[in-house]
Amino acid sequence: MDTQAELRQLYEDTVGNVTDGLTGVYSHGIFQAFLTEECNRCNRYGEVFSLALIDVDFLGKLNTQKGPLEGDQALKKIAEIVTACKRSVDIASRFSDDLFAVLYPKTNAKEAFQAAERIRTTVDKHFHSALTISIGIAAYPEHALTKESLVAAAQQALREAKLRGHNKTVICPKNETQPLKDAAKILIVDDDDRNLKLLEALLRSHEYEVIKASNGEEALSVLRQADFDLILSDVMMPCMDGFELCRRIKQNSSIRMVPVIMLTALDDVASKVKAIEAGADDFMNKPPNKMELFARIKSLVNLKRTNSKMTSISNVIFSLANTVEAKDGYTQGHIERVSNLSVCIGRRTGLTVSEIEALKLGGALHDIGKIAVPDQILNKPGPLSPEEWEIMKKHTDIGFKICLPLKDNLGMALNIVRHHHEKLDGTGYPDGLKGDQISMVARIMAVVDIYDALITDRPYRKAMSRADAIRILEEEGQKGKLDADVVGHLKTFIAS
Ligand SMILES: [Fe+2]
Repeated sequence: MDTQAELRQLYEDTVGNVTDGLTGVYSHGIFQAFLTEECNRCNRYGEVFSLALIDVDFLGKLNTQKGPLEGDQALKKIAEIVTACKRSVDIASRFSDDLFAVLYPKTNAKEAFQAAERIRTTVDKHFHSALTISIGIAAYPEHALTKESLVAAAQQALREAKLRGHNKTVICPKNETQPLKDAAKILIVDDDDRNLKLLEALLRSHEYEVIKASNGEEALSVLRQADFDLILSDVMMPCMDGFELCRRIKQNSSIRMVPVIMLTALDDVASKVKAIEAGADDFMNKPPNKMELFARIKSLVNLKRTNSKMTSISNVIFSLANTVEAKDGYTQGHIERVSNLSVCIGRRTGLTVSEIEALKLGGALHDIGKIAVPDQILNKPGPLSPEEWEIMKKHTDIGFKICLPLKDNLGMALNIVRHHHEKLDGTGYPDGLKGDQISMVARIMAVVDIYDALITDRPYRKAMSRADAIRILEEEGQKGKLDADVVGHLKTFIAS
């Protein structure tokens, strides 16, 4: 029994009926199973297959004008034509109400196009152009590397066929299905020219931009001149081996974000450990399995681009924080002082490393929302009116929203940005949190922020002494507004 028959039998035994009641072709459920199997087979053997999605043009109009029975008759006839035109190994199914799908094993997109055109022209001839079909084609792995993206690629081609006026067969344009590859620039490093050419041809066939280097020094020189999305490096090279090259890349702050895949003929654990120690992001044996290589490249390029995006956002946010300090003439150096002092207090209260890091970042970012507070309020030489206070209080929520895109990187620092004006008795803002609802890092930031404000000249008063500032903080602790323990730690630290 062949694989198709085996899968059909298994599906019948475990799920039930495999055919569509109206048209007699395979049902959607078993088609998905065939699709998965075909992807797996191609991954195993490096083969190709194609998917055609066939849509009946204006079926809704036919149903409305002539009744659903007429529509059903048309679907049955089209299913008959699809079945008659396909090879025995091809798999036809009813993909949805008015959509058929055909899997063409071991068939590239051009061959599938010819097979699909036979279906389209036969339908056109049979119905004398009164009823037509549009067909979208995508090939695996040429257009997609997963079954979901293959279906999406075929749907995209189908939409294009409709846009071109229906009754057309269209192959999915490559560049639209693989946006990642358009700009992905890969540096390949190998002292063997034959290997370089083979890898270059392979990568270029998938539309990657490829730059070659024949040794480590040349690679480092090229890396200094242009931005790359990935480095594929050989291990055994004269002068500087792949491990050393990788180490140097990862020690250089301007290029360490570029992922490195090490290609090695050495299939021993020691080499893999050495590659990890050198900072390699991945390693593969030579020659690499093509499917696996492209999957890893795609994943690492994606990760690198996400990281680059986050770095850009991060740079913008930290420049905004510095802009706020420049806007507020009375708080020069406040960010740095608050950041450093809160870290010292955090250490004294026994916080974790990540909480200490949050205090450092939170200290830098806590007042970033003041970017939205008008200068005349920020620098007012006198107490703020109730209306002005309401505007000033919004800086916590605005700051939180500015920093939200970096939530995965900021961790608890984001909590500090939002909650550094909360009070233990619930009278703070923006959320009126109480007691344990307020994190320890936000409590520390609250105390340190007020302390620094008290000992600094403000628009409406002169700086007070450290002792007076601590006294005020202690009073706030006794009133149940600030964390008295944190105030105690601050007092001890100031005195030390
Ligand atoms: Fe604040």
